[in-house]
Amino acid sequence: MSLNKISIAIDGPAGAGKSTIAKLIARTMNLTYIDTGAMYRAITFKILRDRIDLSNEIKLLDFLNQTKIDIVNGEILLDDLLITEKLRTPEINHYVSNIAQIPIVRKKMVELQRRIAANHNVIMDGRDIGTTVLPNATHKFFITASIEERAQRRYNELCIKGFHQDLQEVQAEIEQRDKIDTERTISPLKKHENAILIDTTGMTIEEVTDKILSYIK
Ligand code: DC
Repeated sequence: MSLNKISIAIDGPAGAGKSTIAKLIARTMNLTYIDTGAMYRAITFKILRDRIDLSNEIKLLDFLNQTKIDIVNGEILLDDLLITEKLRTPEINHYVSNIAQIPIVRKKMVELQRRIAANHNVIMDGRDIGTTVLPNATHKFFITASIEERAQRRYNELCIKGFHQDLQEVQAEIEQRDKIDTERTISPLKKHENAILIDTTGMTIEEVTDKILSYIK
């Protein structure tokens, strides 16, 4: 890794605004943006589409080895097909945390994430970036917000996409995902001790982005 290589890790729970903020910082600082949640969503999409039996580890490994995930200009390509728009559905929201806790799925994703980071100046958002994927990241942030605000943000996002789920249902689902992500055995959602904690409750996207940029500068 060269001396002036930049790697920014942004971790935090669902709906904290990580990806919106990371995208803006990537644009401002001319960094490659890697949405690791979208990578777990892409695998989930294919597992559901192909009805993969998760109890058969050998078949699952074979399936993972035959799956290609690329990120080009922030867009996700699954086996060379652009699928970014298909990843934030209620169905994928429902299954993704369970699939993301499978050890061989994580191993494959982390390898891929590290390979991308080795060749680019990156900003990566997820759950385990500062703790596991990029322990030597040059900057680490942990972004959170109240459960009510995170649920409202995800609810608005789903409405814009034409999905109509009740706000309470969205909140319950986020709480359930946070629980799975935080309690799983392998690289759970956790603030790295050196990460800067930012509670974005009541803050605008611009305020959070400016705050992060001020720390980086
Ligand atoms: O950030 P997101 O909501 O798109 O993430 C979807 C799921 O993927 C999340 O519930 C947990 C999992 N995930 C993970 O386990 N590790 C990451 N680095 C990113 C996401």
